[in-house]
Amino acid sequence: ASVTLSDSDLLAWYDHNRRTLPWRAPHGEVADPYHVWISEIMLQQTTVTAVIPYYHNFLKRFPDVATLARAPLDDVLQAWAGLGYYSRARNLHRCAQDLVRLGGFPLDVTGLLTLPGIGAYTAAAIAAIAFGVPVVPVDGNVERITARLFAVEDPLPGARKQLAQKAALLNVGKASRKRPSDFAQALFDLGATVCVPRSPACVLCPWQAPCEARRLGRQTEFPRKAPK
Ligand code: ADE
Repeated sequence: ASVTLSDSDLLAWYDHNRRTLPWRAPHGEVADPYHVWISEIMLQQTTVTAVIPYYHNFLKRFPDVATLARAPLDDVLQAWAGLGYYSRARNLHRCAQDLVRLGGFPLDVTGLLTLPGIGAYTAAAIAAIAFGVPVVPVDGNVERITARLFAVEDPLPGARKQLAQKAALLNVGKASRKRPSDFAQALFDLGATVCVPRSPACVLCPWQAPCEARRLGRQTEFPRKAPK
């Protein structure tokens, strides 16, 4: 007999445990898509702690899309210096110019995917967090949570598609359909603070009952990775 996975359990946990992060809207408010976009690009390949000072500095120098679009590329690269992966900064600048031409952000995943530097993950993150579209952005945290919940035995990277399909089913409940933005961020926080790679704090997890990996006592074995 399987135990049901309740989206409202995760949201209730988030309401009590949400992290205050500079790009997050205060509880109950809608996030600015520009803030979400910049933070999500910075958070690729860089930790939250490392990103925070860069994020503040970047927003001070380029407070909105228009300012970023008309800034010289060298200024953008300078504000990026230290974060690495400079193609991210070049794409950010090009994307800002596209956004000015478009008159703003596309409001759905398909539209967002046409922009430079915006792939499946970032499109879903912006759509869910800023525009309330009920999609689940799948990053490494969400892959780990999903792999453990369903004890997915197939190893990464081959299992990526399967994990994305299973992750997409996490928000089919009523509560998460109403709060797509909080649901996405709740998954990030769960992955960053509870369902962590090495020593997950399962006793604190809102999904400890339905977690198949925990039932098997094999939490840290998931996600499995193919030998290199
Ligand atoms: N990791 C990726 N996106 C994040 C976000 N919006 N908040 C916290 N951690 C994240």
